[in-house]
Amino acid sequence: MDRNRRIVNYSLIALAGSGVYFSVKTMFNSLEPPKKARLDAATFIDTTTLPLNEVSFFTWQKKPLFILKKDASLSLDEKRDVKIGEYYYTVMIGICTHLGCVPKYESDLKRFICPCHNGQFDQNGIALSGPVSKPLVIPPFKVQENMLIVGEIGEAYLQLKERANA
Ligand code: FES
Repeated sequence: MDRNRRIVNYSLIALAGSGVYFSVKTMFNSLEPPKKARLDAATFIDTTTLPLNEVSFFTWQKKPLFILKKDASLSLDEKRDVKIGEYYYTVMIGICTHLGCVPKYESDLKRFICPCHNGQFDQNGIALSGPVSKPLVIPPFKVQENMLIVGEIGEAYLQLKERANA
């Protein structure tokens, strides 16, 4: 084989090899969600920064998110509360379960009141009056030390679901 032919052969082998490499790399990358997609899909909340016995407001995937951090002086609900450290947290999507308006929190009354048809929920998101019959929805979440990751499914969330269905 002459020298030029050998160079062409080596070049073709190298080209084919790099093609295989990039195809395999692309295939593996597509199996795992990119880090940015994971960050966009979830809301990370440091629970140590939340005020006690008050509702805090966040968003998750452009939806309002209400989080009540409480101690045993407020009513606890084992089907809706998750314990992180020494406190309890009720995590709720802030969308009315009647027709989807955003309830406002009235701290004096300790109630969420829907501006559309006056549906009312208590601090734990339980339907109290008006046309609402279902509680505010608990989004999927995961607990990692003091961090609440809304949008990822963790053990504490699965346990809550199990208790709610029992
Ligand atoms: S949408 Fe909230 S009470 Fe109707």
